[in-house]
Amino acid sequence: MDNSFIKLHEQYSQRVNQLLANCMENIDASLLKEAMQYSLLAGGKRIRPFLVYATGQMFDCMLEKLDSSAMAIEAIHTYSLIHDDLPAMDNDELRRGMPTCHIKYGEATAILAGDALQSFGYSLIAQDPYLPDSNKILMLQELSAASGISGMCLGQSLDLQAEHNIITIDELDQIHIYKTGALIKAAVRFGMFAVGDKAMQYQSELDNYAHCIGLAFQIQDDILDVIGNKNIMGKNQGMDKQLAKNTYTSLIGLEKSIQTCQHLYRQAIEALDKIPYNSKALRQLADFIITRNS
Ligand code: IPE
Ligand code: IPE
Ligand code: MG
Ligand code: MG
Ligand code: MG
Repeated sequence: MDNSFIKLHEQYSQRVNQLLANCMENIDASLLKEAMQYSLLAGGKRIRPFLVYATGQMFDCMLEKLDSSAMAIEAIHTYSLIHDDLPAMDNDELRRGMPTCHIKYGEATAILAGDALQSFGYSLIAQDPYLPDSNKILMLQELSAASGISGMCLGQSLDLQAEHNIITIDELDQIHIYKTGALIKAAVRFGMFAVGDKAMQYQSELDNYAHCIGLAFQIQDDILDVIGNKNIMGKNQGMDKQLAKNTYTSLIGLEKSIQTCQHLYRQAIEALDKIPYNSKALRQLADFIITRNS
């Protein structure tokens, strides 16, 4: 991977990590806070904050205007991971290289840590001192649509319903777009909302880009469940087969899944080609998404 991408990724990750750590410090001590911190500050690729920052910066947005939504999307994403790992869902014991939240703190605390991270995420945007209220309302609306019954939660529910059933590739695309694509699209839109009109005139191009990388992200996740390395990923490998999940690899095989990722990558780049601003960081991220090994 290009050195400039590695540097930028590090810069954005450090920024959001530091801000999240500071915000958590302001919360009174409790077991629940400890469990939230445990999962939120455990590392993770911080891809969604990267998208917020890179989209905003493409249009010269100040980083300060992007911070609250970058933090919020990561808080919601972490909540989705904690719940995804619960025994009632994917029953996973390893996440971000550590025991999952429920293994460390018990199921009840893990459920509540997910719940509390969700409301924490919304409050970060609501309290943002840099954005106008109209912007915050747009972002809060986007976040609730992308994470709830029209987004991530719906996708997670469909994913669980489909276990042990064979579904079509179109049905799987829908699941992937809801459970993973929706939050990725929201991240790009947050960058766009923070900029305003100058970026919003390219909404359909940015949405197309986000749609393609969102689907590719989950296909690569499915691929890594088959060929990835547990130590590099920081999560168990081979779980999808064990749970009889529908995945890209189970439905069309490894080779075609890789080809689909490459096709989506090219479509994502074509969408960026239509935007007359410097989209290098978003291009590099698309490349990272389909070549990553963690
Ligand atoms: C894992 O997300 C769950 C999916 C949506 C596929 P990430 O691969 O972004 O996980 P972290 O944040 O890096 O741990
Ligand atoms: C989960 O997809 C997507 C979420 C909304 C968390 P997976 O169940 O495939 O994610 P991993 O493989 O456990 O990270
Ligand atoms: Mg899952
Ligand atoms: Mg899972
Ligand atoms: Mg997976």
